[in-house]
Amino acid sequence: MAARSLGRGLGRLLGRLREGRAPRRAASGGSGSVPAAAPASYQALSAQAARDPAAFWGPLARDSLVWDAPYHTVCDCDLRGGRVGWFLGGQLNVSVNCLDQHVQKSPESIALIWERDEPGTEVRVTYRELLETTCRLANTLKRHGVRRGDRVAIYMPVSPLAVASMLACARIGAVHTVVFAGFSAESLAGRINDAKCKVVITFNQGLRGGRVVELKKVVDEAVKHCPTIQHVLVAHRTDSKVHMGDLDVPLEQEMAREDPVCTPESMGSEDMLFLLYTSGSTGTPKGLVHTQAGYLLYAALTHRLVFDYRPGDIFGCVADIGWITGHSYVVYGPLCNGATSVLFESTPVYPDAGRYWEMVQRLRISQFYGAPTAVRLLLKYGDSWVRKYDRSSLRTLGSVGEPINHEAWEWLHKVVGESRCTLVDTWWQTETGGICIAPRPSEEGAEILPGMAMRPFFGIIPVLMDEEGNVVEGCDVSGALCLSQAWPGMARTIYGDHQRFLDAYFRAYPGYYFTGDGALRTQGGYYQITGRMDDVINISGHRLGTAEIEDAMAAHPAVPETAVIGYPHDIKGEAAFAFIVLKDDAGDADVVMRELRATVASKIAKYAVPDQILVVKRLPKTRSGKVMRRLLKKIITGKAQDLGDTTTLEDPGVITEILSTYQKHRDKRAAAQ
Ligand code: WTA
Repeated sequence: MAARSLGRGLGRLLGRLREGRAPRRAASGGSGSVPAAAPASYQALSAQAARDPAAFWGPLARDSLVWDAPYHTVCDCDLRGGRVGWFLGGQLNVSVNCLDQHVQKSPESIALIWERDEPGTEVRVTYRELLETTCRLANTLKRHGVRRGDRVAIYMPVSPLAVASMLACARIGAVHTVVFAGFSAESLAGRINDAKCKVVITFNQGLRGGRVVELKKVVDEAVKHCPTIQHVLVAHRTDSKVHMGDLDVPLEQEMAREDPVCTPESMGSEDMLFLLYTSGSTGTPKGLVHTQAGYLLYAALTHRLVFDYRPGDIFGCVADIGWITGHSYVVYGPLCNGATSVLFESTPVYPDAGRYWEMVQRLRISQFYGAPTAVRLLLKYGDSWVRKYDRSSLRTLGSVGEPINHEAWEWLHKVVGESRCTLVDTWWQTETGGICIAPRPSEEGAEILPGMAMRPFFGIIPVLMDEEGNVVEGCDVSGALCLSQAWPGMARTIYGDHQRFLDAYFRAYPGYYFTGDGALRTQGGYYQITGRMDDVINISGHRLGTAEIEDAMAAHPAVPETAVIGYPHDIKGEAAFAFIVLKDDAGDADVVMRELRATVASKIAKYAVPDQILVVKRLPKTRSGKVMRRLLKKIITGKAQDLGDTTTLEDPGVITEILSTYQKHRDKRAAAQ
């Protein structure tokens, strides 16, 4: 089938709407029509996507993606039962959509610019080269026993080979699970074992901020505990030799021997594309499952419309591919659209605080998409680091992962964007696959308010719920943020535990997807995210369950009890505060605290280590033994005078006790600073 760009697909839809004609029916299943003379406005398209999702998404999918076989049903979704299926009966290959279709038209256009750790050493990779690398890697995987449906772990920093690894899996119908290369061996092993991966792909070492990261050593440690792993494919980022054991395969050498052509597997729309582990409020991280067609369409369409991506733009999303932002807006969305996507390997302050903007100038970046935590850090260094570089190439700035405070928003808008660029605060989640609420798309010139995601994307219908589970109507109201209609990009299940998927997202409010976030609807019907309503915290944009940190600390023999609370932090957004109880014979508390920090780093990751640890005699508990974290949060956020209902406390005296210990700790910290 001829390759068609998303632009043309949407252009047609918009065109038809503009002319007041109904979009052509989907292959079947689309039943809606658009009223005569409907303007192609954001409102009209939103209304259509809400009223008749099949009629909206069907033609878009048909015209935008390259199919091997057409779908027969646009959507078969029932949120009450947590059932989500899109473009059923359709067959396609995601790597063909991201590579081959562009290679046919313009093989030499640039797919990736690898902005390596060392500034000024970027590497450009054309679509033709990326396809060839992907095929060689796909053939290497096949030669090492990876078949359709098998899981492959990717433990690699952002790099063309990491992208090729993802696409190689997609090409042969294998399922990738990228594990952020900052996670510890134990975290990596946990994910590999849950997914029962056959192969891990990694580098000998990584480079970040001028420092060497020993990736292969972490993998060696992890795979000792992973019986399903048959091979470790090791690529080289540095010249350093690493020990190669029985499982290890030198990746580049093997690839050089393979054919640069690999026939793509034809996949069903609802076959698994990837798993991505993320934290919930309880239990171990869950492997969210994203599938082929719906995910790809949603990532590509949001990439195009939220960021106003146009052909020729250089799209710079600085997220790591270990997170969903990297999946959707470094890899799948941009590549499906034939864009040039920047792969940022470094940190915002290496070699200095001008790194992002020097890169923007050198690469002529059109869209810059990053996390508020980096913005908060950079603004402290002052404006001169920004102003000394030419940012005239920038058109859109984007923020993701956590709430962006006013100061950071204003700085990004005024200083970085010279009050000229569109700034989009984008709200979404690993579970949603792509951006759900953002100021764009909208009518041209429509207002954008600071620090607000504002407008739902096409097909996203936000609903606010009160504590009793009633829908909250009107404006200037807040509640639990739910989405009432399925969209193509949403996760389909939790790998190996569909019941957990249903319990986590569809049980609290039957018939709705519950996001875990709270939100406010303002006058004008705009949405502002107020933050998580569960025990998930967001440290520097990294999502983490407080229970995971508690579990890691509980492994220490001297620590029978812990309670971890998130609290506001200037740069990180949130940080973790750990209350711990020590056994009588625990010995030196400072030593235990040091060990606890090391334990958390080795069991989860460095960023999960609590910023503050406080030893208390006991924790506040209900009579049934539940720790009242709510009270601890009040204490550390200076709201101890307003504790609310404490009648269920087993012993109210515990509060005065903890408060006085906390105040001493706080005064000591203040004196030390
Ligand atoms: C939070 C990241 C406020 C939110 C794409 C969500 C945000 C969680 C925003 C998902 C935003 C993400 N404003 N909060 N613009 N974007 N969040 O799965 O709490 O790593 O539930 O996906 O980050 O984090 P995740």
